[in-house]
Amino acid sequence: MTYVWIFAVVVLLIVFVYRQSSGYNIVEYELTTSKDIPGPIRFVMLSDLHDTDVTHDDNKGLIEALEALSPDFVILAGDVITSYVNPSRDHHVSRDFLSSLASRFEVYYGYGNHEERYRKDDEEYPGRFAEFESFVKGLGIHVLSDDHIHLSDKNISIYGFDIPLEYYKRFRRGGIAGGMITDKLGALLPERYNILIAHDPDFFDEYVSYGADLVLSGHLHGGMIVLPGIGGIISPQLQLFPKYDFGVFCKEDTTMIVSRGIGWHSIPLRIFNKAEIVTVTIGGQTEKKQEGI
Ligand SMILES: [Fe+2]
Repeated sequence: MTYVWIFAVVVLLIVFVYRQSSGYNIVEYELTTSKDIPGPIRFVMLSDLHDTDVTHDDNKGLIEALEALSPDFVILAGDVITSYVNPSRDHHVSRDFLSSLASRFEVYYGYGNHEERYRKDDEEYPGRFAEFESFVKGLGIHVLSDDHIHLSDKNISIYGFDIPLEYYKRFRRGGIAGGMITDKLGALLPERYNILIAHDPDFFDEYVSYGADLVLSGHLHGGMIVLPGIGGIISPQLQLFPKYDFGVFCKEDTTMIVSRGIGWHSIPLRIFNKAEIVTVTIGGQTEKKQEGI
């Protein structure tokens, strides 16, 4: 009889973990601004796809969900791919997804640590960065690699900050070098609504000092397992209970939204921490809504 109970508990546990780790939520943020932008502007932010087929149908379901949201544009906040040494891992899932995405939306892409790893280490990953980047640019996706674009009709500038790879190291301590963001991206124009894509939220104070109105981050995958009322338990840098695990954070005039990510890699485990599509409307009231899928 005891074995039957143990078996039942194990089966229930497996079902629970599977259900927790599958599917995604659509999380909606509405932000106010005193900046002069023409009416509410709504966009989608995705981070950390990591070559995942989220909807198990070559991401067709994910594309349909994005179409239903009809955003003004889409922002990718890094780690669309996972860096692999094995050249047979050709990122076909992400390539197909990016092709579908680019044929439907204006897409702005800031890099994460996995894209950065390809770029930085061409010896270990020969040719992979150049090949991937040329594919992405060939689709008409706007790559914001230490670069920005100004959407003059919306008075919005989008900046993509490449955080150097050494700042992603495990057990790293301390912030990024003072003035680095300004050195790389130039000063912000305060009359514009300035969005900063910065994959790792850990440097929030530096993003506030830079003067961004809105920072978009990911990287932590929500801390993998969330203890309700406490937060995500671990970051990729193996920090326990990271401060910026997911959600919205405000300081001075800067708001930062940290996505739990839409995919996963290494360990496909999420507990109380669903993957998510983030939608942001600028020009509404500051609040958060959540819809489960
Ligand atoms: Fe990352």
